[in-house]
Amino acid sequence: MKGVVLAGGTGSRLFPLTKITNKHLLPIYDKPMIYYPIETLAEAGIREVLVVTGGRNAGDFLRLLANGKEFGLKQINYAYQEGEGGIAEALALAEHFAEDEPICVILGDNLIQGSISQAVRDFEAQKVGAKILLKEVPDASRFGVAELAGDRIVGIEEKPEHPKTNLAVTGMYMYDSTVFEKCRHLTPSRRGELEITDVNNAYIREGTMSFNYLDGWWTDAGTFDSLRRATNLVAETRAGAAQQ
Ligand code: DAU
Repeated sequence: MKGVVLAGGTGSRLFPLTKITNKHLLPIYDKPMIYYPIETLAEAGIREVLVVTGGRNAGDFLRLLANGKEFGLKQINYAYQEGEGGIAEALALAEHFAEDEPICVILGDNLIQGSISQAVRDFEAQKVGAKILLKEVPDASRFGVAELAGDRIVGIEEKPEHPKTNLAVTGMYMYDSTVFEKCRHLTPSRRGELEITDVNNAYIREGTMSFNYLDGWWTDAGTFDSLRRATNLVAETRAGAAQQ
């Protein structure tokens, strides 16, 4: 499976930190933010990665990551998103790279404690459709929220005011090659973006969406609070590991 890290967008929720640099280059404890999703993919055995980014600092990613040797990757590829038309717009730029293979997509501001290895293996066995990773959270209205019926996922609502469950859809997604056709049928949401939740709901309607629960902590890092939380979680995990 190939990997895709989405690192476009303006990061406007972090202004003025993101006025002169890209959000995903900001530090989380002792590394730039983008290191974490790349390490998550590499740990799951993924060797070919595409980084989608944009804006004036796109060249900094090449200087920082080069060809990915540091992460044990075969190669890092790059794509450029003009503007910030949404996560699904950034994802659509991966079509050429994917070459009809299944892909594992991670949002560039998502950090996890554990591994997605088992989910990747499960999806390789599933072969068609999609898989998402769910996590119980106290503040579900900040995220895409999954609705379940028994052990089936029946729908996802993007940032609902009154969430039906506390199950956040984390920013890690596995897709078969039909994802790009699904992206072509999207229309912009109220916030003017092509939403990843609409892509996921298309798979749910088709009956080909599965999910796993994510173990360990998970956080995004796109707001001041979550940026600080991410740094604290990484620091605490490191300190815990050092004590053992
Ligand atoms: O973190 C998980 C959540 O991420 C999900 O639960 C939501 O369903 C999903 O919509 C997303 O929500 P956010 O509103 O937090 O996404 P945000 O706009 O912060 O974008 C997350 C990452 O996606 C960002 O770090 C880079 C990438 N992105 C985003 C946009 C808008 C792009 O590459 N291009 C874009 O145009």
